[in-house]
Amino acid sequence: MYVAQPIEWTDRGVVMLDQRRLPGEEVHHTYTDYREVARAIREMVIRGAPAIGVAAAMGAALGVLHSPAKTVEALRKELAEICATLYQTRPTAVDLRWALDRVCERFTELAAESGDLAKIRQEMVAEAKQIHLEKKATDEAIGRFGAEFMPREGQVMTQCNAGALATGGIGTALGVIRVAIEQGKKLHVLVPETRPYLQGARLTAWELHKGGIPLTLITDNMVGHFLKTGKVDAIVTGADRIAANGDTANKIGTYQIAVLARENNVPFYIAAPVSTFDLSIPDGSHIPIEERSASEVTHLQGVRIAPDVHAAHPAFDVTPARYIAAIFTERGVARAPYSDSLRALASAALPATSAR
Ligand code: MRU
Repeated sequence: MYVAQPIEWTDRGVVMLDQRRLPGEEVHHTYTDYREVARAIREMVIRGAPAIGVAAAMGAALGVLHSPAKTVEALRKELAEICATLYQTRPTAVDLRWALDRVCERFTELAAESGDLAKIRQEMVAEAKQIHLEKKATDEAIGRFGAEFMPREGQVMTQCNAGALATGGIGTALGVIRVAIEQGKKLHVLVPETRPYLQGARLTAWELHKGGIPLTLITDNMVGHFLKTGKVDAIVTGADRIAANGDTANKIGTYQIAVLARENNVPFYIAAPVSTFDLSIPDGSHIPIEERSASEVTHLQGVRIAPDVHAAHPAFDVTPARYIAAIFTERGVARAPYSDSLRALASAALPATSAR
């Protein structure tokens, strides 16, 4: 089955598929400077929480690789600046912080082991590539756990794009659907277009269609109708940040889908890696919500569709834990009470599927 490749480390630099140009064109860019990677994240060349983490790690590795620093201390200072730049790109997806913390910890380990700058540079690149590799294994494990919850035959709704384009693996929510189909389940995917940035219409529809997975694209205001008329057996979405009590931030519109799911007795699931947990915050009210440009609301692909009025664009919303039937992770399935189950999964041993 076709798996999109949003990002790759190559000898020429970090190659990204420009997701802003999909589905019309498949254009790739090669970045050799970490500032370009930061801009690519901010401007949505690459998006989706786990993929942003991979991009940040590769950006940090590029920064270290091309740094003029002549001593470990100078490189340490520069890495702090590089990470600060990458960290400021998008505020909601916690995978970004997770990946940057991890590369910085690796630097500390390497610097303590030796002062060999060439070796440190090489190992930092290896760490970024390792993070990417692990994301692939993580998605597959999430897919296996989540597939159990998919109906043998029926219709599954998602939101935004939580597929290969969003992770660098097979996807989280779409990974669950993909594994279920590979296991012989007969699933049809209902894809809300996900205004204003249209990740559903542009990216999920593209990815599923290329992979031969049957889908129906709907507009966001059709969600209630389809849930009410009994045409949906389950919903599975990704996540950008999961608080200690299970409250989950995901693409704007996810909250209303979850509430309507409860009203219509449709199970609403989240599929996300443990790196998306933020157990340092007690609940969803502490999750920073990215406010993006209003022009993404007033314009569609550069064409004005509204008068020149004030428009709001919170890019994410928070679904309270009480609406979530289960959270699929690479280490197992979390159920309510999430304050216990998430903590247990966070401290569980690495899965046997880990690629390291
Ligand atoms: O603004 P985006 O496109 O980065 O938002 C992406 C989402 O909300 C995804 O659902 C989430 O990151 C999970 S991706 C596996």
